[in-house]
Amino acid sequence: LSINFSSSEHPYAHLIDTLPDGIKFYNPRKLGDPRYDKLPLSVRILLEAAIRNCDGFYTKDEDVQNILDWQQQQEKAEVPFSPARVLLQDFTGIPAMVDLAAMRDAVAKHGVDPDLVNPKCPTDLIVDHSLQIDYSKCSNQSQPPPPRSTAVRPPSRGGSHCGGQRGSCSKAACSDPPASSGRPTSVQQIENTPLLCPFHLQPVSEVETALKNQEMELQRNKERLHFFKWCSKVFKNVNVVPPDVGAVHQVNLEYLSRVVQVSDGLIYPDSVVGTDSHTTMINGLGILGWGVGGIESEAVMLGQPVSLTLPQVVGCKLVGSINPLATSIDIVLGITKHLRQAGISGKFVEFFGPGVSQLSAPDRTTIANMCPEYNATVSFFPVDHVTLKHFKKTNFTDEKLELLESYMKAVNLFRSYEESSEDPQFSEVIEINLSSMVPHVSGPKRPQDRVAVSSMKDDFQSCLNEKVGFKGFHISKEKQDVRIPFLHGGQEYQLAHGSVVIAAVISCTNNCNPSVMLTAVRLRSLSGLVVKPYIRTSLAPGSGMVTHYLNASGVLPYFNQLGFEVIGYGCATCVGNMAPLPEAVVDAIKKGDLVACGVLSGNRHFEGRLCDCVRANYLASPPLVVAYAIAGTVGIDFEKEPLGWTSDGKEVYLRDIWPSREEVQQTEEDTVISAIFKDLRRRMEKGNTFWNKIECPDSLVFPWDHKSTYIRSPPFFSKLSKDVPPPQSIENAHALLFLGDKVTTDHISPAGSISRVSAAAKYLQSKRLTPREFNSYGARRGNDAVMTRGTFASIKLHNRFIGKPGPKTLHIPSGQTLDVFEAADRYQRDGTPLIILAGKDYGSGNSRDWVAKGPYLLGVRAVIAESFEKLHKSQLVGMGIMPLQFVAGQNAETLELSGKERFSVALPESLRPRQQLTVRTSKGTSFSVRALFDSEVDVIFFQHGGLLRYVARTVVENGPAAAATGEQQPTSI
Ligand SMILES: *[C@@H]1O[C@H](CO)[C@@H](O)[C@H](O)[C@H]1NC(C)=O
Ligand SMILES: *[C@@H]1O[C@H](CO)[C@@H](O)[C@H](O)[C@H]1NC(C)=O
Ligand SMILES: *[C@@H]1O[C@H](CO)[C@@H](O)[C@H](O)[C@H]1NC(C)=O
Repeated sequence: LSINFSSSEHPYAHLIDTLPDGIKFYNPRKLGDPRYDKLPLSVRILLEAAIRNCDGFYTKDEDVQNILDWQQQQEKAEVPFSPARVLLQDFTGIPAMVDLAAMRDAVAKHGVDPDLVNPKCPTDLIVDHSLQIDYSKCSNQSQPPPPRSTAVRPPSRGGSHCGGQRGSCSKAACSDPPASSGRPTSVQQIENTPLLCPFHLQPVSEVETALKNQEMELQRNKERLHFFKWCSKVFKNVNVVPPDVGAVHQVNLEYLSRVVQVSDGLIYPDSVVGTDSHTTMINGLGILGWGVGGIESEAVMLGQPVSLTLPQVVGCKLVGSINPLATSIDIVLGITKHLRQAGISGKFVEFFGPGVSQLSAPDRTTIANMCPEYNATVSFFPVDHVTLKHFKKTNFTDEKLELLESYMKAVNLFRSYEESSEDPQFSEVIEINLSSMVPHVSGPKRPQDRVAVSSMKDDFQSCLNEKVGFKGFHISKEKQDVRIPFLHGGQEYQLAHGSVVIAAVISCTNNCNPSVMLTAVRLRSLSGLVVKPYIRTSLAPGSGMVTHYLNASGVLPYFNQLGFEVIGYGCATCVGNMAPLPEAVVDAIKKGDLVACGVLSGNRHFEGRLCDCVRANYLASPPLVVAYAIAGTVGIDFEKEPLGWTSDGKEVYLRDIWPSREEVQQTEEDTVISAIFKDLRRRMEKGNTFWNKIECPDSLVFPWDHKSTYIRSPPFFSKLSKDVPPPQSIENAHALLFLGDKVTTDHISPAGSISRVSAAAKYLQSKRLTPREFNSYGARRGNDAVMTRGTFASIKLHNRFIGKPGPKTLHIPSGQTLDVFEAADRYQRDGTPLIILAGKDYGSGNSRDWVAKGPYLLGVRAVIAESFEKLHKSQLVGMGIMPLQFVAGQNAETLELSGKERFSVALPESLRPRQQLTVRTSKGTSFSVRALFDSEVDVIFFQHGGLLRYVARTVVENGPAAAATGEQQPTSI
């Protein structure tokens, strides 16, 4: 049924080229087609993958031609994409690895070597801290733990959000919203969205704490860790990254990303699909990748490409030069805002134009990570010299870099952004002038009141005039110019409206990008130019790591000379704990009824929080906080007025002391990035020490522990015959459920806590677990017994058989109302096949691992609905469940179905894609439906009883030459 080309008959063997050192590659340029060099580089990557993986089954010649014809085929053709690797977190990794382990059992029963069952696509499984956090902390709280598969990660101990509450299970962590919801709805909200640091150090103290906790972690997660250890030993193509190395996205960026992959003498571009919602970050390094659900990633592991509609590619042209006062964060947020307004939902964004080279690798990955904010599938930055420079600071050897550069150049995947003649043709182009991104501060009372730094002086003046409000203090004209002299340290100073009395550099959330802090500390102290001593200054890095890199860069002493010293760590506490203002200052403010100012870098502030007598508080980037502190007032136009004078009386402007972007980027690469990689190596070592201690069996098949309530062998391969069974018609099925419109994946496979009265609870109780130990469905997704019982166990399920919402259904023969699982179980015992009746948009919502596996194990053979969510439809096909669509204009009502009749669907000997079938009911009526098998591959999966059984059967049939073994793609050239 499947066609496997051996390397010699690969349809594109004639495109193979050789690099000087003998490494081979498929060179799409040898197609001699002028369209290639006009394709966006992201599309070239899709094309190369299609060429290399062209097997006539999953990927056909036609697909290659469609991608090449991207200009005409965009938004039309459906094309396959086989990424170079799959990225799994422990949570999402469990069901996939459990299935593969069960497949080993199944082929062994047929006398075939179980060692032949391996993921086809190289898979990295990152055992990060989600185990510990989700299991130990969230589970005891009342909130349901988060749906993990596509959820935004909590600010975990791995430090995924700088300055987040580390180590604690905050509310946010427990009620983690799914990736698609809870997004900011306005630009202002975007600006208050914590940015994820693309690259960062783990503070030493955290690593140490982690080590202390390892024994506990081992105990708590014993079953799962043993299983992963076994997986890492037996499966080829599986790489397990041990616990305590870092959060998924971080490990992916720092350790797994390769730009190119070299495997068996073949070199090709790196690309990835991952179950982590931050997977898109990787596109900042020129690696194409995006997030998918657990079930999709499992399919990719089994060799099935991801299917996507050939996307439109929006070229985002960056022109102009960056305003010298703008920080990386200003630029990242500015670009995000532009893209958000452009309405580019579901498209690829690819950056080009001379401005791109001004962005560092961390800037690019931060922008790429923000793409859910503007709904793009990816934000791709083709590889250029900046990318190479970045990898130079990592673990790449010079030879490796040369190899990758010569390969990328040979296939035209290397960009020189200045060369406009190399620019591809895009679907549309958005031009962003980087000089339009001017730095802002916000205040004086609310973070949403933004003021361009260039108009700060005028804005403050108008705040003095305005009547009291968010932007007004109502100071009468004659009092506006008042100056109050006072003594401090034996010297006389003056305070006026706008005088800065507090200046706090706080590194948290929005300022986590190292370059921002580096800009602040790189401000040069010119002789005599210091912050006036009466101003309360402080530097409170969000965590020890900021101090670490500030120290490492050797610039802290200069910063201290300006009058800033590290006062402590943590963003929340430092502001409130600041020493009180000098009494003389307070008196002067009171005497003149002055609007004195606080300037701080942080992402929130509260009126009067700093000090009762400071009425105006501004948020600004760390370097601007320093600048305003030196100026001593917010009423300054940095362009026109000097910050101060040197001791010999020379004017000093802000531009004189501001570091250049190049200078900051150089410091960042030299100190921060290389420190991060040293840190990574240390974490790998420690993680490995721990990992090595875990004992695990040595067998080719997994010795399942029958007492385990987390890991069980799922019965997907029961009664697996060697030969493909003939098409199985459905006879006299009952409807398990009679559903309406918009049944979501959350109704089908609810995540969250396990209700004490559910079928799953009864099962767990029978295993002697108390409700406290139930944990969540998400945590138990390695146990099919729990997950099958949890299928349709949603209290929000509207089943027309039952008057009110709930996880119940009617067992039609007995007339009893039962839990969905119990009803299904009775039907299965009687040998009654099942179908589901539904309305429109069946299966919308986030991907969940068990949305198709669950119904399959309940015995559901077909879902008849008015329409299906596309992704869910493929998931049903992948489990061998028929998605049947009512013909247009018909539904259960128009056909007057009560749902209680019996249903039969006769299948022809050879089923064709999108074939029309007839459903007969026990009332003697019949109606037509369309079987939504879109391709021959779909039909084949269905005939085999789903992808898993298809793959298992291929291994059994072919033995050593199997399609789904650990063999790489045709590489032995
Ligand atoms: C970008 O904007 C600046 C300032 O508005 C302007 O001087 C410059 O010409 C613009 N650059 C381009 C390429 O449009
Ligand atoms: C993003 O996409 C979703 C679903 O496609 C849509 O509902 C939403 O309005 C989009 N948001 C933006 C900002 O385009
Ligand atoms: C660094 O590279 C070497 C050789 O390529 C490899 O063995 C090692 O695991 C790498 N270490 C890290 C931390 O990437």
